[in-house]
Amino acid sequence: MRYLVTGCAGFVGSHLVERLLAQGGEVIGVDAFLENYPRERKLSQISGVLEQPSFRLVEGLLQEIDLEEILEGIDQVFHLAAVPGVRPSWGKAFQDYADNNLLATQRLLEACRESGIQRLIYASSSSVYGDTDRLPMHEDALTLPFSPYGVTKLAAEHMVRLYYRNFGLETVSVRYFTVYGSRQRPDMAIQRFLRVAAEGGSVTVFGDGEQSRDFTHVTDIADATLRAAARGTPGRVYNVGGGSRVTVNELLALIEQVTGCRLSIERTPAKPGDVRATLADCSSAQQDLGFTPRVSLKEGLEEQWAWLNSLADKAGQ
Ligand SMILES: NC(=O)c1ccc[n+]([C@@H]2O[C@H](COP(=O)([O-])OP(=O)(O)OC[C@H]3O[C@@H](n4cnc5c(N)ncnc54)[C@H](O)[C@@H]3O)[C@@H](O)[C@H]2O)c1
Repeated sequence: MRYLVTGCAGFVGSHLVERLLAQGGEVIGVDAFLENYPRERKLSQISGVLEQPSFRLVEGLLQEIDLEEILEGIDQVFHLAAVPGVRPSWGKAFQDYADNNLLATQRLLEACRESGIQRLIYASSSSVYGDTDRLPMHEDALTLPFSPYGVTKLAAEHMVRLYYRNFGLETVSVRYFTVYGSRQRPDMAIQRFLRVAAEGGSVTVFGDGEQSRDFTHVTDIADATLRAAARGTPGRVYNVGGGSRVTVNELLALIEQVTGCRLSIERTPAKPGDVRATLADCSSAQQDLGFTPRVSLKEGLEEQWAWLNSLADKAGQ
């Protein structure tokens, strides 16, 4: 099978590329190396695959590159490219979110419609549900995003479904719930907390720390995404969660346990766009995809902590 992975040098994309190559696939990866975090970090995330003959990197924006040429001979597309992050999506930065999350998706869908690919899997987000106390979140629930980022993820999800309904392009969306694990983006909470454990300083917690998230390990995310490609019902969306709801305060305690470091905590007011709680109802993914999350939060934190320490070891050599 030949795959296109957009956002291939990112946190989730780089893991997915490795899985596809490991199962014998050929992969074209597209990434524009946007500056949400350093290019060097993104390059290091794909350093293990760059030299592999079955991988080809195309550097550029989905809005600009020659998609017709890239899609030639591709069977399946995994569309992960996006500007992530809830808090920075207000104000002038929204232009980047609209361009890279929505307009880029529309251009990709048009190209896929022409090209005869089998199927496109779209990386959506729990942020489409917004700030609700109706937990667990089910795919049939009303979607009321609480941030501009969430609006772009939901709009693109609608686009993806439209191309199935109108043109028969097989599309499946997977709504990821807070992903963590090795290579987690530097702006995300667990990575920020673990860095403080490793390097000292203090942890900034937004709000009272009683906000909760369904943390999902990246290997479970990659697994569910591959299952959606193989077995997902076209036109559908699937929640992908880790299976438990943990408050930030509980997370901090677990991080202290895993790292053996006591964290000094600074509290600042909650930020606009942050929701109070997320929890995935994964029964649809369980039923249609045979997906069950396998990695407990403690195991996942241990994995991410070991990865962070291995980076520090390499830097020190
Ligand atoms: N990490 C999470 O917790 C989480 C949760 C829900 C959904 N998601 C979604 O998963 C996907 C991957 O997120 P991530 O955390 O790996 O982010 P990331 O920033 O690490 O990876 C995204 C990659 O896409 C690239 N990119 C962005 N716009 C592009 C464009 N227009 N053309 C080409 N490349 C472009 C970026 O350079 C980046 O390397 C995103 O679609 C995100 O919305 C992530």
